[in-house]
Amino acid sequence: MSEPVPVITIDGPSGSGKGTVSSRVAEALGGWHFLDSGALYRLTGLAVERAGIGFEDPQKAAEIAAHLDVRFDQDKVFLDGEDVTLAIRTEEAGNRASKVAAMPEVRAALLDWQRQAARPPGLVADGRDMGTTVFPDALLKVFLTASAEERARRRYKQLKEKGISSNIEKLAGEIRERDERDRSRSASPLVPAADALVIDSSDMTIDEVVERIVQAAQKALPAG
Ligand code: DC
Repeated sequence: MSEPVPVITIDGPSGSGKGTVSSRVAEALGGWHFLDSGALYRLTGLAVERAGIGFEDPQKAAEIAAHLDVRFDQDKVFLDGEDVTLAIRTEEAGNRASKVAAMPEVRAALLDWQRQAARPPGLVADGRDMGTTVFPDALLKVFLTASAEERARRRYKQLKEKGISSNIEKLAGEIRERDERDRSRSASPLVPAADALVIDSSDMTIDEVVERIVQAAQKALPAG
């Protein structure tokens, strides 16, 4: 029997810094794989949009999710051979992703795909339900959060860097609304796993968060 592949799950709301932290943790552990599960929902949303079937048909959306022609290459993502790296990062793509993510049929269709990402030497999986649903036996489960105000500040800064002006209060309001929707949906709601290490990153630097997780991972990993 082969050894089980160690998995670290990092769940939390958007703006908590999960993406950056997860890829840095994967690197710090000596080149573990990194699963950006949100990208799969974003890709499904884009593919559903392009198929022109609308967002009212969960069966068809699940069919599309199950047969996505996706390739991850370095830092780029290709859908049906086309580079969609930027196209899946827009606000609109986020909204489409949240629509398909609320469909249990789509979540089921993406389950095996996500589990197959667990390959040696290990996997860091970033999302909303990695610890609760996709990898319930993970070696270490982290729930990374930050206050809505801090997440709005981070988002504001990101947009400003892209030359887009916005309003912090409005952003904080939108973030609270989205949190409420994510926490209250019936399919895989955004809640910490019972055995998760909860980290509030509001007053922490990325380096501090990464170090805390790497230390916890080293403690949890079998010696040797
Ligand atoms: O992390 P993100 O912003 O790229 O996620 C896009 C959308 O997909 C967001 O609405 C939450 C949803 N999502 C999810 O429901 N489950 C996951 N494991 C990852 C993302």
